[in-house]
Amino acid sequence: MRIDIITVLPELMRSPFEASIMKRAIQKGLAEVHFHNLRDYTTNKQKSVDDYQFGGGAGMVMTVQPIDDCISKLKSERTYDEIIYMTPDGETLNQKMANSISMYENIMILCGHYKGVDQRVRDMHITREISIGDYVLSGGEIGAIVFCDAIIRLIPGVLSDETSALTDSFQDNLLSHPIYTRPSEYKGLRVPDILLSGNFPEIEKWREQKAYEHTKERRPDLLEND
Ligand code: ADE
Repeated sequence: MRIDIITVLPELMRSPFEASIMKRAIQKGLAEVHFHNLRDYTTNKQKSVDDYQFGGGAGMVMTVQPIDDCISKLKSERTYDEIIYMTPDGETLNQKMANSISMYENIMILCGHYKGVDQRVRDMHITREISIGDYVLSGGEIGAIVFCDAIIRLIPGVLSDETSALTDSFQDNLLSHPIYTRPSEYKGLRVPDILLSGNFPEIEKWREQKAYEHTKERRPDLLEND
């Protein structure tokens, strides 16, 4: 998958892609991430990318020209499955969306700033608007990093067997069951006997039961949606 990210803060964004699973995905050639600095596309001398809002009101708005030029250039080079705008008023990211987007070949992500972008950018180019939750961040960059992490780890071949996404929380609309590693007893706290029993069908049943109880207690809404 190729991901093109349009941002005014490429430097803020680089390091999460240089560590852990995202780094490995890039090294394996399964993901390619390209940053595009919006300021390189401004045609005004000041290199400004924002302006006052028509009609008045607090907060600056990202102007249409540099974004349109940047997106148009990228679109002329390849076909995008989705051109995504990170914004708190988008659809809320969930595991199902991450699963389906992880199958795409090319996506573009536009990170908003200030009050957001001129509506004409959205009308002309954006195919999907995504929020990472019901709170407002200072810009779309951190949201884009979260979104990229969620999808890159799902690209086939990125995770090894040990880190498989199949048993993650949310993968079946269930939260994860409790997990343990050695030692089997620590400060008097013992690992449940069933996990040490070697009886794998029973272990699987126990895990399913715990995942269900955990979900019922913490996120009953996930069971209702199912
Ligand atoms: N930009 C500002 N807040 C955001 C959010 N919650 N999700 C995605 N992008 C954002």
